[in-house]
Amino acid sequence: MASATRTFTRALRTSARPAFSAAPRVAFRQGGRRFYSSEAPSKTSSSVGIWAAAGGALVAGGAYWFYQNGSSSATPKVFTPKFEDYQAVYNEIASRLEENDSWDDGSYGPVLLRLAWHASGTYDKETGTGGSNGATMRFAPESDHGANAGLKAARDFLEPVKAKFPWITYSDLWILGGVCAIQEMLGPQIPYRPGRQDKDVAGCTPDGRLPDGSRGHDHLRDIFYRMGFNDQEIVALAGAHALGRCHPDRSGFSGPWTFSPTVLTNDYYKLLLEEKWQWKKWNGPKQYEDKKTKSLMMLPADMALVQDKKFKEWVQKYAADNDLFFKDFSAVIVKLFELGVPFPEGTERWVFKTLQ
Ligand code: HEM
Ligand SMILES: *[C@@H]1O[C@H](CO)[C@@H](O)[C@H](O)[C@H]1NC(C)=O
Repeated sequence: MASATRTFTRALRTSARPAFSAAPRVAFRQGGRRFYSSEAPSKTSSSVGIWAAAGGALVAGGAYWFYQNGSSSATPKVFTPKFEDYQAVYNEIASRLEENDSWDDGSYGPVLLRLAWHASGTYDKETGTGGSNGATMRFAPESDHGANAGLKAARDFLEPVKAKFPWITYSDLWILGGVCAIQEMLGPQIPYRPGRQDKDVAGCTPDGRLPDGSRGHDHLRDIFYRMGFNDQEIVALAGAHALGRCHPDRSGFSGPWTFSPTVLTNDYYKLLLEEKWQWKKWNGPKQYEDKKTKSLMMLPADMALVQDKKFKEWVQKYAADNDLFFKDFSAVIVKLFELGVPFPEGTERWVFKTLQ
């Protein structure tokens, strides 16, 4: 199943952007630039002071202190990453997305997007807690929340990137991973700005803030209204399920939503409307399968989008118009990825060049 999907997906990608081959990726990969030292400041009393000051500087402009020669006797320098430095991080992630042929459908893109979404989707607009500012899923209990099962693979994938570009915060890196995943899987451009600060374990959010796939429209509204989204935005966000698959050892559910799980399209909406869906007969949690091929799936939460009249109107709009879906998806992803982040006023957003 996985390999058949992959062949289809690769053909789709090739025809979607014929002007680009795999060659530039290799060039980018080898051209990884280094403007920094990978050494953290040593723990002498003076450098602790500098480190604290650097923390303050990060809030304002994303500055990063380092020792030029990795030696504690060298003078500390300040490094303020710019657009091209974040583009270099983007390129590093993009060049590695398909490095593991036996991983799922051949790309780490879907699981990276799920990491970015689960980091952001804990936001609570009433208390201002949660959201992408903090990367608190590094710590238990949040890493052990049922909804986050399997995301260690995405965090581990990004660890060498963090080691190569130590000036980026985990919170900015995880979101950059999500942006990169969407763009490299041929989705729309996702404007991005850095400025997220990592928090410690005290910033972990309580369990239960992310949606439960086995529930319906009332639950979806409870969860997404809490983050500050409306019905149209809920439906636009769910279109991400064109990508990736469910894993019995993670959520318990099984299978992909579409035939091209590493290319973003509006197929999720089309399939919801056009296929006949029936309960899958199996020992796992209740889920739907398509009657025709029995190879695709829908969660009860996905099916709620065509069972609820107001949601269904948006499903119909996005099924009929991929450009509208891309436009609304980009806007709502930018909003999702910035929930709870206190960006300094006037921080500009950047659009990264794609490799694919
Ligand atoms: C509407 C409520 C949602 C529910 C109930 C839900 C539930 C799930 C479940 C159960 C899985 C399978 C996890 C696994 O077994 O590996 C999954 C995967 C995924 N979800 Fe959602 N999700 C929702 C919304 C979203 C949103 C808003 C996004 C992104 C914008 C998203 C992106 C993804 C992606 C990309 C995967 C595939 C991960 C992979 O292939 O490893 N989901 N989701
Ligand atoms: C590649 O993917 C396979 C299958 O999921 C996994 O078992 C393996 O650990 C991955 N390899 C690396 C180097 O991450």
